[in-house]
Amino acid sequence: MSFNSNADNRQVIIRPASKLNLYTLTLLTKRFFPYVDFSTDEIKRRLESTNVKYLVAEFNRGIIGFADFELKDNHCKLMGIAVLEEHRRKGVARKLAETIIAEAIKYGCISVFLLVSEENAPAISLYNSLGFTSKGKSDKVLDGKPIIIMEKLLVN
Ligand SMILES: CC(C)(COP(=O)(O)OP(=O)(O)OC[C@H]1O[C@@H](n2cnc3c(N)ncnc32)[C@H](O)[C@@H]1OP(=O)(O)O)[C@@H](O)C(=O)NCCC(=O)NCCS
Repeated sequence: MSFNSNADNRQVIIRPASKLNLYTLTLLTKRFFPYVDFSTDEIKRRLESTNVKYLVAEFNRGIIGFADFELKDNHCKLMGIAVLEEHRRKGVARKLAETIIAEAIKYGCISVFLLVSEENAPAISLYNSLGFTSKGKSDKVLDGKPIIIMEKLLVN
């Protein structure tokens, strides 16, 4: 079952992932970020870590998206955001990203940064709309494609 409009996305709950979500998170990570190559054990370790946070987007008791981020030295690294295809363009990723920004502020971070493929127009558009700006290219590549570093400062 999918929802139809941004108004309906009020029914989408963003909450911290629990241990019960381990296998769903493993499947979603493999599907949307295969290059990360995290095993179930590695995701379990990350879920138990104090520096790493996973959020899930829940609709009608099902997980329709997730995001993970790492908090280190006053910085927040947004690792990934993904939403199931049938639930896209309804503001779910925006809700996830806004929650990460709010958490980063709560933890006293001075910025949120991330790496994104230069060719990932939907993600770049999402991050731009939330006030992230490009800080230049990473020296790494993703599937042979250049990667951009984007950052949102949380302090003036
Ligand atoms: C990128 C992604 C997370 C967006 O999820 P989503 O829930 O559809 O995004 P939202 O509905 O919250 O959209 C928020 C904004 O993002 C931008 N956006 C999202 N999808 C877009 C698309 N296909 N084309 C252009 N802009 C897009 C728009 O600015 C949009 O705002 P608008 O709807 O008011 O125009 C989703 O496409 C996805 O899961 N992609 C695969 C995984 C991935 O590449 N993740 C990002 C790398 S970290």
